[in-house]
Amino acid sequence: MPQQPTNAPARAGGVAVPPSAGPVHLTINGQQHTLQLAPWTTLLDALREYLNLTGTKKGCDHGQCGACTVLIDGKRINSCLSLAVMHEGEEITTIEGLGTTESLHPLQQAFIDHDAFQCGYCTPGQICSAQGLINEGKARTEDEIRELMSGNLCRCGAYIGILNAVKEVVEKK
Ligand code: FES
Ligand code: FES
Repeated sequence: MPQQPTNAPARAGGVAVPPSAGPVHLTINGQQHTLQLAPWTTLLDALREYLNLTGTKKGCDHGQCGACTVLIDGKRINSCLSLAVMHEGEEITTIEGLGTTESLHPLQQAFIDHDAFQCGYCTPGQICSAQGLINEGKARTEDEIRELMSGNLCRCGAYIGILNAVKEVVEKK
């Protein structure tokens, strides 16, 4: 896949690039990107402010809500707590990389089928987190799903739908 040099924030009014910014090479959803980033730029800000990948949400920005969950080499992380520069050479997957409008990911379909959201703000993080625990081969019981998804908060309280959606996909594995 050819590299796509990106030298400026994707959004007008985005984060200004300070003089100490340098090239950071990231592989996101199978595509390579080179961004000019200050070393302290979080992965969450790199995704949202520089690449316009706004499916990943900023909730608390302090590692407490899970809205910013993405997958790094298949494992879940809070992207607000991690610097973009730490993820060179790794496979980063965001909600945009899990399915398409034409072909939904099984978790996306299950969330629709089980009415597992209201406002939808937490949903990308919930789905990435659920995919992470499926990748880890965990969550074989309801209690395990509850425990392993406990870092993903839903202010709308759609927890029953979320649990049922994740359970359905886990059981089909
Ligand atoms: S925005 Fe990262 S955990 Fe809340
Ligand atoms: S659906 Fe609104 S925060 Fe979860």
